[in-house]
Amino acid sequence: MKRLFSGVQPSGNLTIGNYLGAIKQFVDLQHEAEAFYCVVDLHAITVPQDPAELRKRSREIAQLYLACGVDPSKATIFIQSHVKEHAELGWLLQCASYMGELGRMTQFKDKSEGKAAVNVGLYTYPVLMAADILLYDTTQVPVGDDQKQHIELTRDIAERFNKRYGDTFVIPDPQIQEFGARIMALDEPTKKMSKSAENEGSRIAILEDPAIFKKKIMRAVTDTENEIRFDEENKPGVSNLLTIYSMFAGESVESLVNRYQGKGYGDLKKDLVEVMTDKLGTIQKRFEELNDVTELDNILRAGSEKARATAEKTVNRVKEAMGLVLL
Ligand code: AMP
Ligand code: TRP
Repeated sequence: MKRLFSGVQPSGNLTIGNYLGAIKQFVDLQHEAEAFYCVVDLHAITVPQDPAELRKRSREIAQLYLACGVDPSKATIFIQSHVKEHAELGWLLQCASYMGELGRMTQFKDKSEGKAAVNVGLYTYPVLMAADILLYDTTQVPVGDDQKQHIELTRDIAERFNKRYGDTFVIPDPQIQEFGARIMALDEPTKKMSKSAENEGSRIAILEDPAIFKKKIMRAVTDTENEIRFDEENKPGVSNLLTIYSMFAGESVESLVNRYQGKGYGDLKKDLVEVMTDKLGTIQKRFEELNDVTELDNILRAGSEKARATAEKTVNRVKEAMGLVLL
């Protein structure tokens, strides 16, 4: 049976990169398999967070899942710290992971580079992510391209564990879209769009005001030619805009390129703003309508209870395999 698990960190305002690379897939795939979509707050605290802000953001991510179309009667939505088995399996797996393999993670290298003091959680972050995934006998992990290395590590840890202690874990596969798995920054289209980048103009938040994202799109870096064509290597800026346009409009890049023959970048950008205003407007409206905290908390409570039922079984299986006493 197919089972999906994925998570998003409540560490900033979600961008259209998060939406197109991950959450849109969550929505499309929820009909095909049993799905668990988590707000990974324990991962967010590997870097400093303002407590009040973190609490607000964690609920906000869940609210955004719903606003984007995740259906709580189909998928299980919950907050990671509400299911203590995540932290517990995280520890058990740390004892089956190696310093060398964690040190090779590019996300760790990026986030720790140039820092005088690096907390241990940032280093063991990928093991907690492996625990998230393995707790639910996950077969597929829908993510953006930047998470591929973490999922490979998860597979390595699980395979090694199975070899040492006997068949315990299901080996998960990454589910990364062929197209749109890496939305680039608007100001520097050779870099990934990130919710934590310094320049606000590099990204667009899902909940951003149309007047503001209009300015960002109109200022997006392109190139000195004037030909609309998809060529990620030589025309990363235009190609990124075409990718975003294609995904929001549900129209192929080929068809867009044909339609814009003889037109300029300004035309493409103006129309893209219109398409985005329409799509994001729908999500933003739904987000506002879902503003009832009690109802949201009820969904999260039910989600964590459902998640815990599966997670508990897995942790017991792991403890049994490792030789811990179960009463
Ligand atoms: P994060 O914001 O790091 O918690 O990421 C949440 C999900 O969004 C992960 O599956 C990421 O791979 C995905 N994601 C983040 N940024 C992008 C991007 N620029 N393009 C595509 N997917 C992304
Ligand atoms: N590391 C992921 C990110 O930064 C978030 C994450 C944590 C995750 N646990 C997960 C993603 C489990 C998929 C599955 O985007």
